Amino acid sequence: MTEILQAKDLHKSYKMGKSRLEVLKGLELCVNAGEFVAITGASGSGKSTLLHILGGLDTPDAGYVEFDGGRIDKFGAGQLNRFRNKMVGFVFQFYHLLDELNVLDNVVLPTMASVGSLGWLARRKRARKRAAELLEQFGLGERIKHKPYQLSGGERQRAAIARSLMNEPRLLLADEPTGNLDSETGNGILSVLQSLNRDGQSIVMVTHDERMAERAGRIIRLADGKIV
Ligand SMILES: Nc1ncnc2c1ncn2[C@@H]1O[C@H](COP(=O)(O)OP(=O)(O)OP(=O)(O)O)[C@@H](O)[C@H]1O
Ligand SMILES: [Mg+2]
Repeated sequence: MTEILQAKDLHKSYKMGKSRLEVLKGLELCVNAGEFVAITGASGSGKSTLLHILGGLDTPDAGYVEFDGGRIDKFGAGQLNRFRNKMVGFVFQFYHLLDELNVLDNVVLPTMASVGSLGWLARRKRARKRAAELLEQFGLGERIKHKPYQLSGGERQRAAIARSLMNEPRLLLADEPTGNLDSETGNGILSVLQSLNRDGQSIVMVTHDERMAERAGRIIRLADGKIV
């Protein structure tokens, strides 16, 4: 199997006044292409910290992350932007949709951000078509003109998943994607992720909910700064 993601000896600590809070203490992780991995652990165990480091949103104090065999800490600024915008897609607990934009515009945003303004003129039509197709796929075909605040929680998260897939990322990173939803709605989101995974999407999902984690292909537990 091909490895898509590897974390090597990750260390991360936060300085709090005079003391230092060690969150990751030599963490090792390997994810194969096509896998659906759930990372569980108690609140405060460092799951979000880890996910942010894996996606290049934060940097470790020591150790490194390899994506497709390349160390992301060796990427130049342009390469790192490309990695964050095109190689990985993010889904968060609180959706992070922009209330000023309708659902369709929220979903096309990553593509708008990844091409210049001239590129956008050339790509706009195709991007809007893809966004509409993704929204249709997730049952939001009738909601594309809605503003995020006019949607239910489950609908917002499905819109956020559509946005994360807009640039066809190699890897989907989801941080508590069901954390703000009731269990039935959360189950629906997990079904969406499972179906994406069946179609080949690699996924790393962080959750403290065991029942959600059990629906992934593999569960990894984080405790005391390491995988146990
Ligand atoms: N910027 C920061 N400065 C100081 N401490 C931080 C910072 N970010 C996180 N921490 C601390 O690091 C620890 C790990 O945080 P993290 O958010 O990764 O936990 P988590 O496993 O995602 O928890 P939860 O399940 O509650 O989301 C926590 O104790 C937190 O207080
Ligand atoms: Mg967290």
